[in-house]
Amino acid sequence: MEAFTIKEKEIYIGDFRVQELAEKYGTPTYIYNEQRIRENFRRAFSAFSSHYPNFKFFYAVKACNNPAIVSILKQEGAGIDAASVNEILLAKSLGLDGENVMFSGNFLSSEDIQRGVESGVIFNLDDISLLPRVLKYCTPEILSFRVNPGHGKSNVGDFVTNAGPKAKFGLHPDQVTEAYRKAKAAGIKRFGVHMMTGSCVTEPEYFALVTKLLMEIIGKSARELNIEFDFIDIGGGLGIPYRENEAHLDIEKTAELVASTFKDAVERYGMTPPRLMMEPARYFVGDAGIVLGKVHAIKHSYSKIIGTDIGMNILVRPAFYGAYHNILFNGRIDDPVEVCGLCGQLCENTDFWIKERKFPKTVLEGDLLVATDAGAYGFGMSYQYNGRLRPAEVLVNGKESYLIRPRETFEDMVRNTSIPEHLLK
Ligand code: LLP
Repeated sequence: MEAFTIKEKEIYIGDFRVQELAEKYGTPTYIYNEQRIRENFRRAFSAFSSHYPNFKFFYAVKACNNPAIVSILKQEGAGIDAASVNEILLAKSLGLDGENVMFSGNFLSSEDIQRGVESGVIFNLDDISLLPRVLKYCTPEILSFRVNPGHGKSNVGDFVTNAGPKAKFGLHPDQVTEAYRKAKAAGIKRFGVHMMTGSCVTEPEYFALVTKLLMEIIGKSARELNIEFDFIDIGGGLGIPYRENEAHLDIEKTAELVASTFKDAVERYGMTPPRLMMEPARYFVGDAGIVLGKVHAIKHSYSKIIGTDIGMNILVRPAFYGAYHNILFNGRIDDPVEVCGLCGQLCENTDFWIKERKFPKTVLEGDLLVATDAGAYGFGMSYQYNGRLRPAEVLVNGKESYLIRPRETFEDMVRNTSIPEHLLK
C-alpha cells in the first residue's frame, strides 16, 4: 500500500479522506502512514538480512524525529543514528541506548564529547583529532571512525552529497590506519567503521561501489594493525522517487550487490565477518508522509499563482535544494491543466516555490492540496518565520488517526523569551 490512495478524485490516507483529516486537525499538517513506514522497513530489512543475516538498521532520526515515528522503527527492530546529544537523549527516552545508538556528530564541542561519552552509546568519530578529546573522559569499550571514501552521490543535487573531496565529513583514506593505530594504542578493544556518502540514490550499483571502496580502505588497516571489526556501517542514502516517472530503487538488487561485495572483501582480507549495518532514513519515512495544505487565495497578476499554507517554512526542500515534490489537489485529480505557479504565505520570493507547473484549471479557494513524499526532512526542517508557526503532525494507522504533535501557537513563538527591564518602560 502507498502512503495515500485516490478514489474518485478524493485523496485518502489510510481509511481517512483528507477532507476529514483537514476538518479534524487543520492545515498545514504533516500526516504519516504507519503501515507504509512498517512496509518500507520490512521490505528493506528482509532484502538485506536474507543476503547477510548479521545485519542491522539504524534509523537516522534527523529525517523525522517525532517520538511516535521513532517508536515505530524501534518496534521494527531499528537502532538509532544520532547527530547530536539531543538526538541521543531522544533515543534514550524511548528506551534505546548502548550499542543500539550511534553518535555520528561532526565538529563536536567539548560539551558534546563529554555528554556523548557519558551517554554510553557508540561514538563514531568524524576526525582523528577527536580521539584524544574523547580519551580525556574515558577509554570507550567500542569505537568507530567515519571514513570519507572519496566518492559521494545524490539524486537531489550536490547539496546532499556527503562524501568526496568537497564534503566536510569523515577521515581521508590516508588517515584511517593511523586513526585505528592510535585507538588500539589507547587500549580500545572493539572497533567499527562508518561512512555516509550521499542521499537519495536509486542506483543499486552505487551502494556496491562505495562498499567496495570502504572495504578496501578498512581491509588494509585491519591487516596492518591486526585488528578485527565488530561492525561496518555503510550509511544511509537509499533513495526514493520524487517524480512520477522516476523508478524505485531495486532494493533486492541493492542488497544482493552490497552483500556479495561485502562478503568478498571480508574473505579477501581474512576478516572475521563483522556485523553489516546501514542507517537509512528517507527510505523508511520519505514516501510515508505528506503535507496537507489548503488553497487560500488565487491571484492573476503577471502570472497565475495559487497561494497555499504550504510555505517554505513548512516544507523547505524545494526552496533550499530545488527539490521536487509532487502536488495533488483533492477533488481535482485528472482535471484539465494549465501552467501556473504555487506559493506559501511568507514575505520572501523564495516562498514562490513552484514558478511554473501544470496544475488543474479547476482549483478553487478552499481546496485541499497534498505535497507528497514529505515524510523525510519535512517537519524536521520546518521553522518559525513571519509568525507562521510549525505545523501539526498526525499519524494514521488504518482506521485510527492520532495527533502526534500539535500545531504551534503564539505562546510557542514567544516561549522562553524575555524583555530586559529597561525596555519595558
Ligand atoms: N546517516 C548519517 C550520518 C546522515 O547524516 C544521514 C543523512 C543519514 C544517515 C540518512 O540518510 P538518508 O538515508 O535519509 O539518505 N536534508 C536533505 C538530506 C540530508 C541528508 C543528511 N544526512 C534532503 O532533504 O534531501
